Amino acid sequence: MKKSWGIHTTAIHTGMEIEPRDVSPPIHMANTYLFESAEEAAQAFEMEGQPIYTRWGNQTTAVMERKVAALEGAEAAVATSSGMAAVSAALLAAVQAGDHVVATTGLYSGTHHFITEDLPRYGIETTLAEATDPAAFEAALQSNTRVIYLESPGNPALLLNDLAAIAEIARARGILTIIDNTFATPINQHPLDLGIDVVLHSATKFLGGHGDTMGGVVTGPAGFIQRVLKGPIRRFGGCISPFNAWLIARGIHTLPLRMARHNANALAVAEWLSEHPLVAWVRYPWHPSHPQIALAQHQMPGGGSGVVVFELKGGLEAGARMLDRVQLCARTVSLGDVRSLITHPASTTHHSLSQETRLSAGITDGLVRFAVGLEDVEDIIADLDQAL
Ligand SMILES: Cc1ncc(COP(=O)(O)O)c(C=O)c1O
Repeated sequence: MKKSWGIHTTAIHTGMEIEPRDVSPPIHMANTYLFESAEEAAQAFEMEGQPIYTRWGNQTTAVMERKVAALEGAEAAVATSSGMAAVSAALLAAVQAGDHVVATTGLYSGTHHFITEDLPRYGIETTLAEATDPAAFEAALQSNTRVIYLESPGNPALLLNDLAAIAEIARARGILTIIDNTFATPINQHPLDLGIDVVLHSATKFLGGHGDTMGGVVTGPAGFIQRVLKGPIRRFGGCISPFNAWLIARGIHTLPLRMARHNANALAVAEWLSEHPLVAWVRYPWHPSHPQIALAQHQMPGGGSGVVVFELKGGLEAGARMLDRVQLCARTVSLGDVRSLITHPASTTHHSLSQETRLSAGITDGLVRFAVGLEDVEDIIADLDQAL
């Protein structure tokens, strides 16, 4: 019965096996649990999945984990305190000193720094491969490569990794593939169906969806998720607050509805921008402006998601003036909110990267990232119009 559920029913009903049978999950804020006897305490430590201590697992957090696992089609999920905790926990569970990681050039800056600076401090070598070229991933492999790490669409240039092609290269050599699916969400893209092994998210973005919580999640085979939980989460300690997990689980109830509207609004904004005389270029996965539109429509069958990037003919200066003039859209550095958010990555989110690294990832100095919200699209466009 459950297997035939549609995406909306899955988002709402999955994971709600809770006691007491409240219509909304109770928020279990207890950090530890009472035992009837010393023997019961000892038994809890013998078995898996017993309520013992919230860093080891929590009943409210489990609701969020079951929902994301179901939406991704994964065996299991583990929630984390932030997207970066998900990125670092997944990688630290997969590699050890002496291993090698190949990663896409199109990475969120925090992930870029973790992969190129922190992993090498632990004796793990890394090579970046050009995001759009599967052959570059193959060429970068070494005998000690254990992980191929992807982000598609990449933040913020929205360039795509060819997931099926890269998964095939990895599977032939027994290499684990991990993807950051934050930008696409499980509504628009199902990496596991394309042969990817592990999918993670910054749940701070679309999964939570309302700009009011931090969180992350790693999904994949049950054995790997146990390794993430028992190693990096329990020992490095990046577990999520049950309250944040509750907010994210609640956000997920409307994720399919919200993504349909993010998709539609973003496509309309991309179309409008592409016809504006002051706009030099626009890029959006489902718009003809995207160099990989055929791949986007194939591997993101749900839609192009909620982020559009563009550059004005006046470059950086004109972009900064536009950011100063928006009234409805919020000047912030995040994305995946009900509100439209506008960002200049080269001076904010990706400022810590060198200009050379930014350019190799497609981030020009004048690039503006526009995370299109759920407002009436006419109002969003009217705000962009007056700012331009
Ligand atoms: C694609 C992507 N992954 C991971 C992260 C990190 O997420 P968090 O800020 O929740 O740690 C971000 C943050 O912007 C992101 O854009």
